[in-house]
Amino acid sequence: MHILVTGGAGYIGSHAVKLFLERGLDVWVYDSLVYGHRAAVPADRLIVGDLNEINRIDQLLPEKRIDAVVHFAAFTYVGESVTNPAKYYQNNLVNTLNLMECLRRHKVARFVFSSTAATYGMPDQMPITEGTPQKPINPYGASKLAVEHALADYANAYQWGFAALRYFNASGAHASGAIGEDHTPETHLIPLVIQAAMGQRPHIEIFGTDYPTPDGTCVRDYIHVDDLAAAHLLALEKLQPGQHLHYNLGIGRGYSVREVIAAVESVTGKKVPIKEGPRRAGDPPVLVASSDKIQQDLGWKPRYTDIKAIVETAWNWHRTHPRGYKDK
Ligand code: UFG
Repeated sequence: MHILVTGGAGYIGSHAVKLFLERGLDVWVYDSLVYGHRAAVPADRLIVGDLNEINRIDQLLPEKRIDAVVHFAAFTYVGESVTNPAKYYQNNLVNTLNLMECLRRHKVARFVFSSTAATYGMPDQMPITEGTPQKPINPYGASKLAVEHALADYANAYQWGFAALRYFNASGAHASGAIGEDHTPETHLIPLVIQAAMGQRPHIEIFGTDYPTPDGTCVRDYIHVDDLAAAHLLALEKLQPGQHLHYNLGIGRGYSVREVIAAVESVTGKKVPIKEGPRRAGDPPVLVASSDKIQQDLGWKPRYTDIKAIVETAWNWHRTHPRGYKDK
């Protein structure tokens, strides 16, 4: 299989690329390096380009004999999507539609798409299944849902096979410690708590302590990035023309913000300074996935089902790369 991986130098993309290469697939990474990292992928597999440079992708597809695309490239800051929706609709939706048209011209009809729990918005029934109504509450989630709809129509009309993988909270780092999470700015809970433990931040602010949850803080379903990568590989192998696959990816149990902080303290042996703050706008109290469907259909099973095991891999990365990819 010859695969184009857009956004392959990003956090989740780079873990998938590593797995695909280990399995002997012919992988080409297409990444603007706006948020991705050169050091996250092998130099001889990286093509630096923006998603809006469709003429470059037009050339690449026949040149590399691409027969499937795994599309990670996107902007992912929920808060920014609210203040600058144009940026999100332009990149996540318009550029993706242009990519899809380019693929259609070259008869590439297999597509694995990075979707998100954010397409569900604030559902009141837990766990979230693939049948839970998708009602995004921010432009980021809306831009991802719009692509899911377009893909379904392409699958019906043009016999595409596609998988929309709806990630819950991607977390952890590669078991080898060679690649990991490095966002600028960092907004995700686990790296922020680890940075607070390392003294790189004065404290971790808990966004809301009055939620209707057992300890008053938000509950999320943290899924290890290597388990996400494995799901992409299974989906790629499974896709048939005309097939629609929609799968949630989580571990099926939630951890609260306080439980994540406790896990970091236990794994690192360091005290994490805490500041209790107000709720962050748009945060649902609880988001937990049912991933039964992908387990039944594809035999996927998360290897990491305990928050401490996930945090251990993240700690291994941050401890050895205190400045992220700058330390590579
Ligand atoms: N949190 C804090 N303090 C912080 C950062 C986060 O208390 O400094 C809390 C948040 O309120 C939330 C939890 O920690 O309850 C996790 O927050 P993250 O920002 O790490 O992750 P989110 O659940 O907000 O976002 C994730 C993905 C998004 C996706 C969203 C779907 O990162 O891409 O799930 O709801 F859109």
